[in-house]
Amino acid sequence: MYGLVRFGCSLLLASVQARGIPSIPTRSTYGQLQLSEIHSVIVDSRYAESVNTNGETLIPPTLQEFADTFTQDLKDLHLNASCYAGASVTNGSIFLTLGDPSDYLDVAGRQSAEGYSLSVSSSGIVITGASSLGVWWGTRTVFQQALLGNGSIPYGSLNDTPGWGTRGMMLDAARHYYPPDFLIEMCAYMSFFKQNTFHVHLSDNLYNNVNIYSRERSLDLYARFRLWSDDEAVAGLNKYKNESYTREQFDEVQSACAARGVTVLPEIEAPGHALVFVQWKPELGLEDDLSLLNLSSHSESISVMKTVWSTFLPWFHSKTVHIGADEYTAEVNDYNVFVNAMADHIRAEANKSIRIWGTFPPKYTTGYANIHQNVTVQHWEFFEDNPLYDYIQNNYTVLNSDDTYYVVNKWSGSYQPQVNVSATFIGNPNTGGGLWYPYVFDTRNSSNNPVRNEPLVLGEVAALWNDYGPNATVYSEAFHAWRQGIPALADKQWGGNLTATEFESILETLRPFIPGQNLERAISSKTPTILNYTFGIGYASGSALIDASGNGYNGATDCSRTETGSLLLDSCALTTPLHSKGRDYTLTLSMLLSSLDNPTNATLITGRDSTLMLTPSITLFQGGNYYRLTTSLPLEQRLDLNIIGRGNQTFAKINNGTEEEFLTKMGINGERFEWGPMAIEAPLHQIGGDNAGWTGEVYGLRLKSFA
Ligand SMILES: *[C@@H]1O[C@H](CO)[C@@H](O)[C@H](O)[C@H]1NC(C)=O
Ligand SMILES: *[C@@H]1O[C@H](CO)[C@@H](O)[C@H](O)[C@H]1NC(C)=O
Ligand SMILES: *[C@@H]1O[C@H](CO)[C@@H](O)[C@H](O)[C@H]1NC(C)=O
Ligand SMILES: *[C@@H]1O[C@H](CO)[C@@H](O)[C@H](O)[C@H]1NC(C)=O
Ligand SMILES: *[C@@H]1O[C@H](CO)[C@@H](O)[C@H](O)[C@H]1NC(C)=O
Ligand SMILES: *[C@@H]1O[C@H](CO)[C@@H](O)[C@H](O)[C@H]1NC(C)=O
Ligand SMILES: *[C@@H]1O[C@H](CO)[C@@H](O)[C@H](O)[C@H]1NC(C)=O
Ligand SMILES: *[C@@H]1O[C@H](CO)[C@@H](O)[C@H](O)[C@H]1NC(C)=O
Ligand SMILES: *[C@@H]1O[C@H](CO)[C@@H](O)[C@H](O)[C@H]1NC(C)=O
Ligand SMILES: *[C@@H]1O[C@H](CO)[C@@H](O)[C@H](O)[C@H]1NC(C)=O
Ligand SMILES: *[C@@H]1O[C@H](CO)[C@@H](O)[C@H](O)[C@H]1NC(C)=O
Ligand SMILES: *[C@@H]1O[C@H](CO)[C@@H](O)[C@H](O)[C@H]1NC(C)=O
Repeated sequence: MYGLVRFGCSLLLASVQARGIPSIPTRSTYGQLQLSEIHSVIVDSRYAESVNTNGETLIPPTLQEFADTFTQDLKDLHLNASCYAGASVTNGSIFLTLGDPSDYLDVAGRQSAEGYSLSVSSSGIVITGASSLGVWWGTRTVFQQALLGNGSIPYGSLNDTPGWGTRGMMLDAARHYYPPDFLIEMCAYMSFFKQNTFHVHLSDNLYNNVNIYSRERSLDLYARFRLWSDDEAVAGLNKYKNESYTREQFDEVQSACAARGVTVLPEIEAPGHALVFVQWKPELGLEDDLSLLNLSSHSESISVMKTVWSTFLPWFHSKTVHIGADEYTAEVNDYNVFVNAMADHIRAEANKSIRIWGTFPPKYTTGYANIHQNVTVQHWEFFEDNPLYDYIQNNYTVLNSDDTYYVVNKWSGSYQPQVNVSATFIGNPNTGGGLWYPYVFDTRNSSNNPVRNEPLVLGEVAALWNDYGPNATVYSEAFHAWRQGIPALADKQWGGNLTATEFESILETLRPFIPGQNLERAISSKTPTILNYTFGIGYASGSALIDASGNGYNGATDCSRTETGSLLLDSCALTTPLHSKGRDYTLTLSMLLSSLDNPTNATLITGRDSTLMLTPSITLFQGGNYYRLTTSLPLEQRLDLNIIGRGNQTFAKINNGTEEEFLTKMGINGERFEWGPMAIEAPLHQIGGDNAGWTGEVYGLRLKSFA
């Protein structure tokens, strides 16, 4: 990114502003500001309380609140700036202010509240936003530029506005539970790349072919509704409090995401994928497929769904909510009546708009009541609709969720297990295979795509589905399926123009420093040995456990010491300051098993994300699911139990024996099984403890960052 340029008789370093993700407009400049010279973040006192009311969120942070989050993020770059209100930029400061919104236009030429300008000179940095949200995206640019410039930011100014207003991802949190902190960390990851929408799918059931089952089995299939309310009106709808979001938790997720400019857009799905409602009230189901609501005039379905929405609408802090309405295969007219009834109800109750999945395109024939034109359609597949001809040309707004970018987690007959990143670089038939943008619904046939500046295209949201349910993956595998996809899509959703080569190198530079999350469960370490406890010479009972790795991850224990120098594990525990390590790793527990007191439930090591168990075979436990090997540990034998996380696989190995892989067995639509790899984090926090279910000795615990 640097070039030498002759300037008079001296050689000056001319830097080109690095690109960033999304890419920013570039220009050559002379000189650069060292981020270490920055001592303060100054919020323009005229606008400190200003919020952006144009976005989807109803809880927009003030400029001051965004400034506080930014100041906090700067600490990750070892920059201790103070944040205060002021009137202008001063040397060594980043000044946050608002400008003229008409300077920031989206791809259709409309004002966008998300644009910002950045000006960097020897006298500091000025971020001017079309709104407080625009300023926030500007702070992401400063953060990224500092990382890409090794701590310095090139002088110069730029104007940057997203082309499309809806940029984000959809997570199927219905057929797989994700804890609140996972959702919050995902928002932080998305926000770093300026995505503003996290669509969370909150109700669904396993299998797309419920009709192959008997009524009895259907009523017992995995189906979930993820919100937990004590309201009598929905008593019995949700039977699984441990895998639900309470109102308090859902509020926390929405607020934490909003704090980084991301709106949580909730989806409660009906009248298809609605088995959970039928399990609650069996009379609502269609006889031949209980996952579909009966919408005929004598059915209670509409009033029940209105009750569900009335209960939960007060929870939601977005201007739009999603009612699903996907893959309904019964009566079209009934479906349209249902969608309009829900739209009217949700508007009347909470003044919110609705969004649906593209399912039954409008038909302009008599006797056919189309869905309201003010319902937004989320297109996902051309076999359902043609977004240009069916919707745009009939004045519907459309969100692009074409399945080009679908992920079905772990296994699928049709989709990839990771986002198809290469399509973002070559998936545009309108430019002969150039960069893809949200107006491109069809990556093969250009005549199916509107013009680039079509105002009815809202943007793009890429979806991840958990068709094979809760035990096909652990939480973080959803992140890994998106790890490259989020930044690749975010660039083009914004209107950026990174090439594949630029993208890879920029992402690798930025990735380790993305604030507000540690989804990779990385642990900083001076050497490839992250943790090393040995209980031999020099170890005395009751003393702190010294980590010999040099990282100082010292532990604590109340276990006593044996004559051979090991720790005697018997109703006592060893704890480390660490919690979890993601791919790659090798965790080695040197131990001896004396007795297996609870042969179906003995806990060797617990951690934030997983537990290593003996059930009695070697088992990893995560999110309520057991992943068992066939091998067990012999009694009274000192051995090294190695747990190895290598890429998207996890193995166990005793001493230098052969590796045995942890796998999942997935039920595929009730027809057959598929085996798939599991990528489970290493549990690191505690060995032993009350009711560990075993006794024995521990000689050492080691963690390495490679496999
Ligand atoms: C990318 O877009 C920017 C404007 O945003 C433009 O300055 C630059 O030339 C473009 N780069 C390429 C390779 O098209
Ligand atoms: C950061 O700055 C604040 C206020 O200027 C000061 O109180 C604090 O000690 C500083 N922290 C570090 C780690 O330098
Ligand atoms: C700000 O700093 C620049 C270079 O560091 C210097 O040239 C300039 O005089 C300073 N301005 C003020 C007002 O201190
Ligand atoms: C980055 O900056 C640090 C000091 O700030 C310096 O030691 C290091 O060599 C620089 N790295 C590169 C790649 O320029
Ligand atoms: C949406 O369209 C329907 C049907 O035209 C209409 O009754 C309703 O008032 C509209 N809602 C809004 C918010 O404009
Ligand atoms: C769409 O809008 C255009 C322009 O307002 C109008 O001429 C046309 O009739 C509308 N089409 C439909 C199906 O409402
Ligand atoms: C596992 O990783 C390999 C190698 O990167 C990749 O080819 C494969 O698609 C991945 N499988 C899943 C299920 O993610
Ligand atoms: C762990 O520490 C012990 C004792 O200090 C040392 O002998 C051993 O080599 C270390 N192991 C690793 C992997 O660093
Ligand atoms: C919730 O509890 C049920 C019943 O104990 C259990 O089967 C399920 O795995 C738990 N879910 C999670 C995510 O832990
Ligand atoms: C495993 O093999 C390595 C070298 O291949 C050796 O250093 C180590 O002692 C062996 N460990 C055991 C427990 O046999
Ligand atoms: C996962 O769940 C399916 C049922 O959907 C079951 O058949 C399979 O055995 C489970 N796999 C594991 C590893 O628990
Ligand atoms: C396993 O043991 C732990 C610790 O006593 C206990 O919390 C848990 O409920 C037990 N699980 C089962 C399935 O028995």
